[in-house]
Amino acid sequence: MIHKKPKHILEKFFESNSDWQEGYESFKNLLGHPTGWLVLTSDEYSEKIKSLDQGHFHSNGNKKSLPEEEILYPYAIELARNAVFRYPFREKVGTAGDSYTFFPLMHVGQIKGFFVLSFSSKNPHRHKYRPIFWAFSSYLQNLVQMAYKDYELQHVYETVHPRALALSTLHSLHRVISSSLRLGDLLPRIARLCAQILKARGCSIMLADPSGRYLIPKVILGDYAKHKKTIRHRFGHGIEGKVALNCEFHKSSRCVAVPLIEDDLVGVISVCNKIDNSPFADTDMEILRTLSEQAVVAIKNAQLFEESEELTLGSIKSINELLNLSLNVEHTHHQIIGDLTLEIGKEMHLHGDELTHIYRATYLLDTGHIATPKDILEKRSQLTREEFEKIKLHPESGANVLRKIPSLRPLIPIILHHHERWDGKGYPDGLKGGEIPLGARIVAVVDSYSAMISKRPYRKKMTPEEAVEEIKRHSGTQFDPEIVDVFVKVMERRMLENRAA
Ligand SMILES: [Fe+2]
Repeated sequence: MIHKKPKHILEKFFESNSDWQEGYESFKNLLGHPTGWLVLTSDEYSEKIKSLDQGHFHSNGNKKSLPEEEILYPYAIELARNAVFRYPFREKVGTAGDSYTFFPLMHVGQIKGFFVLSFSSKNPHRHKYRPIFWAFSSYLQNLVQMAYKDYELQHVYETVHPRALALSTLHSLHRVISSSLRLGDLLPRIARLCAQILKARGCSIMLADPSGRYLIPKVILGDYAKHKKTIRHRFGHGIEGKVALNCEFHKSSRCVAVPLIEDDLVGVISVCNKIDNSPFADTDMEILRTLSEQAVVAIKNAQLFEESEELTLGSIKSINELLNLSLNVEHTHHQIIGDLTLEIGKEMHLHGDELTHIYRATYLLDTGHIATPKDILEKRSQLTREEFEKIKLHPESGANVLRKIPSLRPLIPIILHHHERWDGKGYPDGLKGGEIPLGARIVAVVDSYSAMISKRPYRKKMTPEEAVEEIKRHSGTQFDPEIVDVFVKVMERRMLENRAA
């Protein structure tokens, strides 16, 4: 790749500024059409004046060149070292009789270059131009200041502006990340944010599959939806595949794509098509890069969170299966308990972890029965007082076993207190009213309902309607009356739906 040397600030300015073009033409007319050169220092410091880059500007179309060895170097060095501050211009006559007038171009005490005018020895008026040189020098100096001011403004726009944008973007991203832990929520939010900030019509996020050979599209928004669909992309193929394979950024006028890297490649995020059809700029790339650096941390966290959630669910299901194997099915989980608990929880506007913990606890409520003597659990007649005392130990036994699994600890208060009563006459701790954890209060209602509609050796099973009436009868004594109200509402809705079906 050929790296073009960036243009000097003054070179860019003099080439493109139309005021200068006009002003210079006027001065040339006044000065009898001399030949002019713009000579620029290629380094910032004037001591390195020997490395001058010579530019041939406005040389009246003739090919006359500025004699470097005889005129330019000795004179430029002399000016740079001694007299630049005192003299706005200096003149020198060459061996051929031509005269050269040097105008130093200064910025904050440094020589940035020279403007040189050359007058032919045949020009009879060249000595009369001195008063105009003063005006020309001050005109040049004003232009130099303007050039640097423009440059600084542009520099601020190109460097500070994107960073300011990126900072405000980070703020938005931080809000998105802190409010979503699951990939299903997080990825669409990140994609929408990227498209919105880059003012693009499409955004896609693809994640690397475990084999590390394919990208799997997870979010396809806007214009991308037309052609990307949900097919997997092989590393090395297409824009995203190449970004994934080489871990490099991609920028074209219609697309910007960056790799998501956290130790290894996690995926690729790309945006396409500006809303106003303008090409993507370096600024866009910088913003997307900043976004991706933050996004990948959140994505990785969400992946880890989901993996640990799967592990937790796996543990719960394994324990439940063990319970099914070793206990009579009466004492293990009924699907209806989980479903009803979820429905009541949602009706009560519970969400997130709180709801998840209550739902999961329903699978493990009677884990402690593993320690209850089998003959008591399987007894077909009424239990004696002593036998019932042994049954009452199961919440604590279950809590003690499950406490050893860190991910299940949030479930412990629900399991431990699912036999407490609203009036304080329950077990194991005789907690009363609001002292009983909310999850345990909900589960108590649903667990009792489930037991009532199940067959027991010592009694007939109730119909759902009878069981609901029984629960209502114990509202305010055994059960939290508010939860009973919600339970009744949910049950009535279910019964209506069943009738309609
Ligand atoms: Fe129980």
